[in-house]
Amino acid sequence: MREYLIHGGRRLSGRITAQGAKNSVLPILAATVLTGGKCLIRHCPRLTDVDAAVAILENLGCRATRDDDLIEVDSTTVTGTSVPEKLMGEMRSSVFFLGAILGRTGVAEMSQPGGCELGLRPIDMHLDALRTLGIVVDENGGKLKCRVSHLRGGRINLPFPSVGATENAILAAVTAEGETIITNAACEPEIVDLAHFLILSGANITGAGTGKIRIVGAKLHGCEYTVMPDRMATATYLCAVASTGGMIEIDHCRTDDLTAVLAALEHSGCDIRCGEDFIRLNAPERLVAVDNIRTLPYPGFPTDAQAPLMAALATAKGTTLFVETIFENRFRHVAELVRMGADIRTEGRVAIVRGVQRLHGANLNTTDLRGGAALVIAALGTDDFSRIRDRGHIDRGYENFEGVLSSLGAEIERNDY
Ligand code: EPZ
Repeated sequence: MREYLIHGGRRLSGRITAQGAKNSVLPILAATVLTGGKCLIRHCPRLTDVDAAVAILENLGCRATRDDDLIEVDSTTVTGTSVPEKLMGEMRSSVFFLGAILGRTGVAEMSQPGGCELGLRPIDMHLDALRTLGIVVDENGGKLKCRVSHLRGGRINLPFPSVGATENAILAAVTAEGETIITNAACEPEIVDLAHFLILSGANITGAGTGKIRIVGAKLHGCEYTVMPDRMATATYLCAVASTGGMIEIDHCRTDDLTAVLAALEHSGCDIRCGEDFIRLNAPERLVAVDNIRTLPYPGFPTDAQAPLMAALATAKGTTLFVETIFENRFRHVAELVRMGADIRTEGRVAIVRGVQRLHGANLNTTDLRGGAALVIAALGTDDFSRIRDRGHIDRGYENFEGVLSSLGAEIERNDY
């Protein structure tokens, strides 16, 4: 069992630096398969999901070596075309390796990524996008077998601005013959980061970050790239400090990526000063509720910040209404917050959070990455002890989580037994 032991009641304050973005480095590592050369990727966070992506690259025959935050990938030789079941299980979002492997080899095989704690998480939009480019997809008994004899451009109209489907479509199209247009594309900053990496590798992509992306197939080569800062880890630390009435400065982050989260924290009573690459937050003794938080595709309020903000607002003055429009089951942290004394009622995709004066410590179970971070935030805001089990969920997305929080004054330690 791997858990966190937390003694709450400390006001967090200090200065930290934003980690590299998990949801950017993962598709970029997949994209290195397409270059057929050497790529140097900098600002890679130390996360178990990144370890899984490196293992997938090695399984494909690429050479991947890590030196601190630098990962070097040599994809000159690619001998494999499949993602092992074990690695698919470790990281369901390995599904965006599909586009990269197909773009390089014309054949790809992996198990259907199962659902997870957030809901069914189908990949129908990914597969429809790939079919538009001439890819034949066999779905049989939980296995996905894809092949294409001639990858050609096409017009991909996404029914929803799915981040993963947009990434898979880009990865499959960048070396396809001719032009590809992706409409209703996701606009998240991580899409832009992936496009910037690919353009440095020789890709012809315009419109990334807008709903319409145009790609003309090209031959790619190796390059050097520095991954963007992680906006969700930044949002998480802001919520953690806000929930303890503290103050923080976060350097080397990108303020523009977080406008909806900063607006919500300002509405909750925090004083926020920011420049292009730093954010300073000073929290009040007690937050005030924010009327309505509705998660939306970028630039709306990000679904990954919903749980961390809810944990902070569980002790705010007043009532906040959360509407989770992106995932059908992203309130798994609520039951655990209620066990800490929170007053939260959920109905489908709606959660009504009536702020209470204080939460109390408890033995808590994490179910997913951001929900686990939310429980740590809630525990830090209590005046007593909490035990948070299944810490592995948190290790997937937060680099040295307890080290960063301890540097801000938190009393948190790992306990493995
Ligand atoms: C990415 O997941 C992120 N993961 C998620 O972050 C993030 O919450 C999500 O985008 C939304 O921003 C990575 O980048 C590795 P989607 P993804 O496709 O691509 C449905 C975290 O905590 N859908 O935009 O899986 C889907 O079920 C993780 O870091 C289909 O129905 O998200 C969901 O309801 C969690 N069919 C909605 O669309 C499809 O083919 C949005 O999913 C694809 C998606």
